[in-house]
Amino acid sequence: METLTLTRPDDWHLHLRDGTALQAVLPHTARQFARAIVMPNLKPPVTTVADAAAYRDRIVAALPAGSDFTPLMTLYLTDATSPDEVRRAKDSGFVHAVKLYPAGATTNSAAGVTDLRHCWPTLETMQAIGLPLLIHGEVTDPAVDLFDRERVFIDEQLIPLRAAFPALRVVFEHITTREAADYVTDCDGAGTTRAPTIAATITAHHLLYSRNALFAGGLRPHWYCLPVLKRETHRLALVEAATSGRSCFFLGTDSAPHARRLKESACCGAGAFTAFHAIELYAEAFERAGRLDRLEAFASFFGADFYGLERNRATITIERAAWTIPHELPFGDDRLVPLDAGGVLQWKLAA
Ligand code: NCD
Ligand code: ZN
Repeated sequence: METLTLTRPDDWHLHLRDGTALQAVLPHTARQFARAIVMPNLKPPVTTVADAAAYRDRIVAALPAGSDFTPLMTLYLTDATSPDEVRRAKDSGFVHAVKLYPAGATTNSAAGVTDLRHCWPTLETMQAIGLPLLIHGEVTDPAVDLFDRERVFIDEQLIPLRAAFPALRVVFEHITTREAADYVTDCDGAGTTRAPTIAATITAHHLLYSRNALFAGGLRPHWYCLPVLKRETHRLALVEAATSGRSCFFLGTDSAPHARRLKESACCGAGAFTAFHAIELYAEAFERAGRLDRLEAFASFFGADFYGLERNRATITIERAAWTIPHELPFGDDRLVPLDAGGVLQWKLAA
């Protein structure tokens, strides 16, 4: 059988939730990944180092026996996050970044930032101490077309922010457009000898699907996530970026579980659940691009390098073996539908 062995990957953008949901989804990630950057958009959000420490303890307690998975914690930036709090975060050793949600941009972002100017002293401190800012890069102005909100964010928010804080380390999360991929590529090519100041994560679903998937034969709630899937030209640009071998692009699933009941309703929450089959989805995308040889660096090297962490030493093996994605999985009192349930994948993680 054809197999591929990779350095064990890390997931640089993951939603683990809490309580019974956390218990249901965590084993899927821990089976594949050594570490993950854990998003702080709980209800209420993880805004302090003390919150992050308690959340980390709950994650570790929910791990399957014998798992050596390490959660890498983040803080949720608000208008009121103080410079002292981000200094404490840096000193903690377990908080690795601060996440910017523009207020109202996505799931559980109501407590997010209403105006970046409120955060100026805190961003200045993050720049000085080298704590990365992770950005949900969409404007929230209802007058801006939903499909344009990432592109507009680059011009209206990201470029001015980076001009004000040129040494601030930034991850442009789950990019979905050609404009975002080009922006990050251009910055990367700027050619300084310092550590790169901007990178981007790319999800498996944005590599595999265009917005047509949302409407294939009817309305498909499990493909609805934010930022929303874009047209095919953007998908192609993301595939080009992810498989380019450039170290500024790395794996972040943005796996975002929502109960089946909530997804299949009149008003469906945003989020695609991909943690169950993450590495296999990425393998599919890289193989279709004829670039399986570049999967390892994207999945296992570049993220660790950007965050200044050691690369993993253990490995995982995937084998070429067609299998069907299950229709649903347990999720506390409810059920969870993995993305493309019932679909067939060509690569399978070896047990
Ligand atoms: C995420 C969630 O459900 O927490 N949803 C999503 O569609 N990606 C939030 C986010 O990352 O935007
Ligand atoms: Zn996310």
